[in-house]
Amino acid sequence: MSLHAKLAAALKSRENRLIRRRLADPDADADLVDFHTNDYLSLSHSHDLRRHFLHKLARAPEVLGSGGSRLLVNGHAHAALETRLAAFFDSPAALVFNSGLDANVGFFSCVPQPGDVVVYDEYIHASVHDGVRASRVTDALFSFEHNSLASLGELLLRLLSERPGLRTGDNSLFVAVETLYSMDGTIAPLTQIVELLESLFSRGNGHLVVDEAHATGVYGPQGRGMVAKLGLERRVLARLHTFGKALAGSGAVILTDEVVRDYLLNYARSLIYTTSLTYANIVAVDCSFDFLENGIAQERASKLLALSLRFIDRLQSLITWHSIPAALLSLPPHLTAAELGGERATPIVPVFTSAPRPLSAHLRARGMNARPITWPTVPKGLDRVRVCLHADNSLEEVDGLARAMVEWATGQMPAVRAQERTLSLQSKL
Ligand SMILES: Cc1ncc(COP(=O)(O)O)c(C=O)c1O
Repeated sequence: MSLHAKLAAALKSRENRLIRRRLADPDADADLVDFHTNDYLSLSHSHDLRRHFLHKLARAPEVLGSGGSRLLVNGHAHAALETRLAAFFDSPAALVFNSGLDANVGFFSCVPQPGDVVVYDEYIHASVHDGVRASRVTDALFSFEHNSLASLGELLLRLLSERPGLRTGDNSLFVAVETLYSMDGTIAPLTQIVELLESLFSRGNGHLVVDEAHATGVYGPQGRGMVAKLGLERRVLARLHTFGKALAGSGAVILTDEVVRDYLLNYARSLIYTTSLTYANIVAVDCSFDFLENGIAQERASKLLALSLRFIDRLQSLITWHSIPAALLSLPPHLTAAELGGERATPIVPVFTSAPRPLSAHLRARGMNARPITWPTVPKGLDRVRVCLHADNSLEEVDGLARAMVEWATGQMPAVRAQERTLSLQSKL
């Protein structure tokens, strides 16, 4: 079979399994209410930020290109942004990458040394997988159950008993987690993970690496993220913040100590062998951080989190009122359990359904864009429509979304009930 025939067959197979990826038509989405982008603070539509950016851009000494890799040309703007970010996030050092993907790939492919072990949450982002696969520890990668301290603890104890180097401190163990998980809206129990690591690795060779991609701008003082919110800055080895989601820019920063930064500069191929972000890009990021520092982003984040609670509560009460079966629509327990309090507020709300595509199509026909997410992006049986909320969504839009979801589900109920009756009759025969 020719190459093109093989590629076409793979695509056809995805088509048949309803998992073929496609780019959306840019015109088709333009007028839909945004319930799907990562632009959580709606900063990409902020006239104030746009004005601020154009003003700074007009005065910037350099705007176009960057001239090459950071190691070839270390622009003033790039260096100044890192100094600013290290101070803002209270970190000894900062290193800017072209994207969060580059940062994770760069870090995880080079920092773990032979004999070290990497342990990661089962829902960790693809970029961490790409990094560790290119590392020198491909035979020492272990996952633990999502957000489960019990599963992590068990794994760490087993690794300690099997690997003397971890007990003596000659080898290191890295734990990779996200603070806010992108598909589930779950928040990692960071403080407990830090405490567990410190208690089991008293020689200081258990290192936490935290990906704040979805928490940046949304949580913590002035949007500094969960590590800052919990005061854990000195107890994690490295933090990743990305600029492409809530900050309406592109690129990312790794916050860490001087030695790790220097090592990345020498060994992280995704930093060394690529042209660094353009000056215009750096100006844009700088402007977004002005909006974090001046408190505007925090105001937007508060509005966003209030909208999130409103949506969750509205949808849950409609589901209960209409007795919608869980197979049609349900929210995960971490969003509905009352005892969790404020932390339920998250810009990412997964609405589980066995029919994510029809539900998403129903919403689209009513002017709303919330995307279906299916296997292989999420585990089998956990298909969903993922709702991403934004600071500029209105109360009416959010209420309308909950109503439209329930309207779709109630329309499906006669068919579901008939199916249940058939199954129950069959089981009695
Ligand atoms: C958790 C997480 N980490 C890293 C990345 C990569 O960031 P970027 O989009 O800047 O490459 C993403 C983006 O999809 C993400 O969701």
